[in-house]
Amino acid sequence: MSRPSATLTLTLADEAATVALAQRLAHLLRGDDAAERPPGGRIHLRGELGTGKTTLARALLRASGIQGRIKSPSYALLESYNISNLYFYHFDFYRFSDAQEWQDAGFRELFDENAIILIEWPEQAGTRLPPPDLDILLEHAGTGRRASIDAYSDKGRLWLTQLTPSGP
Ligand SMILES: Nc1ncnc2c1ncn2[C@@H]1O[C@H](COP(=O)(O)OP(=O)(O)OP(=O)(O)O)[C@@H](O)[C@H]1O
Ligand SMILES: [Mg+2]
Repeated sequence: MSRPSATLTLTLADEAATVALAQRLAHLLRGDDAAERPPGGRIHLRGELGTGKTTLARALLRASGIQGRIKSPSYALLESYNISNLYFYHFDFYRFSDAQEWQDAGFRELFDENAIILIEWPEQAGTRLPPPDLDILLEHAGTGRRASIDAYSDKGRLWLTQLTPSGP
């Protein structure tokens, strides 16, 4: 993946801070800020085991209006949802190993849709994935987490400016 053109680092002191970031992202992905822009986008969630990737994805889906149980896709690789004509795909490629699986599951086509796509362990899918709008790396920082957010598209860059805390 080419170098990101913009980066933002945030401290997430506790789980509530991860959820708050997810809520802000949900708002941006829905395009609430710009009525003329259709909702949708792709976010890669990277980080070691237990850094909060699923927490963030689940909170983002919840904030987008998904009701009922939101399962971790760690066994199925993909959980999908939809609200009227907007689709949500939550991938977890931790257990992904087989290129054939990619073909058989028809994942490729999903990336052409105008959907909200969240991907845990994108590195496990090798070079199959197109660059995301945002790449979020979660790391342990004391008892909390640090999020390093990189933008790889114009849309991602716009979101990054909207996520940047304004000065004092
Ligand atoms: N900012 C935070 N500070 C402290 N704990 C957090 C924070 N965000 C999430 N957590 C906690 O981290 C734990 C692990 O979260 P989660 O299952 O989302 O990790 P994950 O990255 O998806 O792991 P895996 O790679 O195993 O799927 C949860 O108990 C969650 O409450
Ligand atoms: Mg997870």
